Amino acid sequence: MSIKEIITVPDETLKKISESIEHVGVNEKKLIKDLFETMYHSNGIGLAAVQVGILKRILVVDVSNKDEEKQPMALINPVIKNLSDETSVYEEGCLSIPETFIEIERPKICEVEYIDEKGKKKNIKCDGLLSTCIQHEINHLDGKLIIDHLSKLKKDFIIKKISKFKKNPDRIVV
Ligand code: NI
Repeated sequence: MSIKEIITVPDETLKKISESIEHVGVNEKKLIKDLFETMYHSNGIGLAAVQVGILKRILVVDVSNKDEEKQPMALINPVIKNLSDETSVYEEGCLSIPETFIEIERPKICEVEYIDEKGKKKNIKCDGLLSTCIQHEINHLDGKLIIDHLSKLKKDFIIKKISKFKKNPDRIVV
């Protein structure tokens, strides 16, 4: 297992559409382990393969609280089958968009079909934080980010701010 580097905006890879997995093999299983390790290391609750630069339709989530038992879930080729009319709002951050939190309204409940890490077809109905988290991660697989919910002006402002922040050398005081 290894911790991968998470790519951030304005990396163009984040806008690309990830490809479906035909077979869950050794490489996919290793990737899933790496995604979990990278996600836990970064204190995230979800991570899509594209965020480590790999355009495969794989994502991992774990929305358990720190004092709870871990609830790792890996979703391969996830497809949303149903979304509720009822919505909920969370302030969402993204490991690929540092220091940015945006209030986003999404369907409260979603039904998702996917393949698990053993290659088994599964179906889940999720609500609350898990529902929002999985919708956020599936958006990643389609090249969509939380800043895409904003106006172009606000989006450009955030990207500029992050690019500037990244280019700055380490600041020292001597
Ligand atoms: Ni994200």
